[in-house]
Amino acid sequence: MTLTFTHPPTATPEDSAAHERTDPGCSPMIQVEQLDKVFEGGFQALKNVSLEIQRGEIFALLGPNGAGKTTLISVICGLARASSGRVKVDGHDTVADYRQARAMIGLVPQELTNEAFTTVWDTVSFSRGLFGKPKNPAHIENVLRALTLWEKRNNRLLTLSGGMKRRVLIAKALAHEPKVLFLDEPTAGVDVELRREMWEVVRQLRDQGVTIILTTHYIEEAEEMADRIGVILRGELVLVKEKAALMRQLGRKELTLHLDHALEQVPAALAGHDLALTEEGHALVYTYDVTRQEQGTGIAGLLADLEATGIRVKDLHTRQSSLEEIFVNLVREKT
Ligand SMILES: Nc1ncnc2c1ncn2[C@@H]1O[C@H](COP(=O)(O)OP(=O)(O)O)[C@@H](O)[C@H]1O
Ligand SMILES: [Mg+2]
Repeated sequence: MTLTFTHPPTATPEDSAAHERTDPGCSPMIQVEQLDKVFEGGFQALKNVSLEIQRGEIFALLGPNGAGKTTLISVICGLARASSGRVKVDGHDTVADYRQARAMIGLVPQELTNEAFTTVWDTVSFSRGLFGKPKNPAHIENVLRALTLWEKRNNRLLTLSGGMKRRVLIAKALAHEPKVLFLDEPTAGVDVELRREMWEVVRQLRDQGVTIILTTHYIEEAEEMADRIGVILRGELVLVKEKAALMRQLGRKELTLHLDHALEQVPAALAGHDLALTEEGHALVYTYDVTRQEQGTGIAGLLADLEATGIRVKDLHTRQSSLEEIFVNLVREKT
């Protein structure tokens, strides 16, 4: 499957009257400044959230259920009003320049809501019309083909499988050629195979220059997809980092030493090291903090002590902790 998704110039006369827009090539695609959202009952769902999203990146907003992901997306997309703070999309203020800002955005909502009796073609074409864009059957065809919906274009939505319905939601969000695509929990409740397909679609969109923001409570999804990860907990953006740096900096490493002869317990002589006995005594696992590398990992000392106790190591390997472990530790720290 290839996605040919092009961006004809989208500037309109109002656009070029230029608000404080500078060089669109390097300004952030999305600027979120000090957002608060307090719902009517007084519940504060967003607390002083500031965030910049760069053009062409895949940004994953990771957080448990109820953290405020959908609320943040709704405010950025202009569907919900912030209590304070502001958002710009491609330089357009989402309140003052709502229409221009919204036209930049494609939103794939969390909930599946489809008009059961409409055909795939009609529902996707109609979405384009909502943004006042002239008809462009070639673009709609591209989008449908890219999402392998072309064969189903004349099907009514109620005849489609859950996976196909999700694809239709993405197609609808892409119908007006947005520069930014928001996917709110795109793969929640989706089987593994479809999840991988969705990831592939998202990557292709990014390769075509679309900026992608996805929310997820699946750590695996953030780990797999994101260039940068923001972690949101109880309405607070507690961390924003390049995925690779996050995994490097917060990560712990494990060194597993496979032993020639099984041990009953960790020898007293090695008590000074953070060791655990596994594999029925056949392996020692040493955990160390990669952030403390300047002070040394302690590996040299451990190996020397092992040597002194006469324990023979026949093999060893290291493993970086996963984003999952990092995330669990972070949540534990912050709550
Ligand atoms: N309209 C609303 N009125 C009051 N509280 C709401 C409303 N919408 C969401 N919330 C609350 O705000 C919090 C964040 O919700 P949401 O943004 O949907 O979380 P997430 O998408 O991360 O699961 C939750 O505690 C939710 O109950
Ligand atoms: Mg949500």
